[in-house]
Amino acid sequence: MSTQSGLGDHLNPCNAVFGSLRAAGLTLDLAYQGIDQKEWGRLFAKADQIGLQEQIKDLLTGGLVNTSEHRPALHTALRNLDKSPVPHLGQDVMPAIADVWQRIDGLCNKWVGVTDLIHIGIGGSDFGPRLAVQALAHSTNKTNRSMRVHFSANIDSAELSHILERAQANSTKVLIVSKSFSTAETMLNAKTIINWFKAKNLTSSQIQNSLFAITSNTKAAESFGIQKENIFPFWDWVGGRFSVWSAVGLPIALQYGFDTFKQLLSGANAMDQHFASAAIHQNLPCLLALALFYQQHKHHSKAYAVVPYAHALELFPFWLQQLDMESNGKSVDRQGNFVKVSSPTVFGSAGTNAQHSYFQLLHQGPEVIPVDFIAVKAAMSTLPEAQEHHNALLANCLAQAQALAHGKESTDPNLSYAGKRPSNLIMLPKLDAYHLGALLALYEHRTFCLGALWNLNSFDQPGVELGKVLARPIQDALKNDAPFNSDAFDGVTASRIDFLKK
Ligand code: F6P
Repeated sequence: MSTQSGLGDHLNPCNAVFGSLRAAGLTLDLAYQGIDQKEWGRLFAKADQIGLQEQIKDLLTGGLVNTSEHRPALHTALRNLDKSPVPHLGQDVMPAIADVWQRIDGLCNKWVGVTDLIHIGIGGSDFGPRLAVQALAHSTNKTNRSMRVHFSANIDSAELSHILERAQANSTKVLIVSKSFSTAETMLNAKTIINWFKAKNLTSSQIQNSLFAITSNTKAAESFGIQKENIFPFWDWVGGRFSVWSAVGLPIALQYGFDTFKQLLSGANAMDQHFASAAIHQNLPCLLALALFYQQHKHHSKAYAVVPYAHALELFPFWLQQLDMESNGKSVDRQGNFVKVSSPTVFGSAGTNAQHSYFQLLHQGPEVIPVDFIAVKAAMSTLPEAQEHHNALLANCLAQAQALAHGKESTDPNLSYAGKRPSNLIMLPKLDAYHLGALLALYEHRTFCLGALWNLNSFDQPGVELGKVLARPIQDALKNDAPFNSDAFDGVTASRIDFLKK
């Protein structure tokens, strides 16, 4: 192996010189994974055996990787800023994408006097834009500082009512964001907002001008009453949890400007290019996936933690939970066979808060739980003390990884730390739109590689349907005081409904 790769004489990414495993400005440090050269050799052989490189090519060139729904997963086309052709069903998808970019840009320049933007959507129609808007809030080049951006996802009216208490109806715009345009939470929240507008005496044309839809089901949006020119489409080949790059990311552009949104796409695109072209042993998403796959099997780990040492990335674990567990939390492989191992449980929160919560278990719990540490080199506030805080933040991040790796012996078992607990460090030079885009794309691709290693279709989510279907008759039974047919439910559910109706 050439020393130019930074891996030294051995094909061991854990021994790479810090900074040599880098893509789109992000550095990956695997030094505390504790995986030796021979074990990496086996992992690379596994990648070869499953044709990982070919599978990546298939993903990026529109292969039907969503095998159950017979669709490609072309979210990378959404950040293909140079518009090189991406064929799907004999047509280039780029002109339609570029048209939406133009419309987003146009809208950013059009809105004046808007005080409140309410984004309604859930799951993939919420996590990404909510995370990005929060993560970039410290950035200095906000274009629309006076506009408040609110997110409402939950069907619990407490979330929406908190927003409506603060919003000014006459100058509020609403984005109804739903790929299917049928998700119960989103449709109910949308109807409640329309009632709120009416209660505030807005005319129907004022209401119509305030409502926008972002969806792949444009017909349903039209039937709901959204004006054609206020509908921003995306497509069935964009999975919900991969959709922040589409018009679903509109609040990012509206809050920070279209150029910032383009920066987000550009960082993700740089990661895509790395993913497409780097050899597996230098390919960041592949290495992250192989390392987690290894630790999961070695330690029978059922969970892993992600801890961003950046308060602005506080929502990153929520976004990642959907990405990983909705994609890969499965018991059946691509051929329909049962599997014993798939996605570990993902949990996490911002460091240093996390240290005062579950780090006890990470250090001394009986199960080995791999950790992804994410850190940002540049401080993220303008306080005079920012650098002092930042040094303390980074010191804690490095120290926790060191403690997990090396542990500490003691004659008192209660005071000893086993050590040899694996972690990664992913380092961003600064938290701006470009590097945020790269970080999200890094994890998207890692999720795909893990799916490939477990032989799963990462692009469907049939497991979320049953609960939705069962909720409907329960909702009907709860509706009024009329007696309900308890025989239609199992005994436990019937008695719970009974209790709620009394
Ligand atoms: O939770 C299931 C799910 O279908 C997710 O995959 C999706 O991101 C979310 O619901 C919202 O769906 P939609 O965008 O269609 O409203």
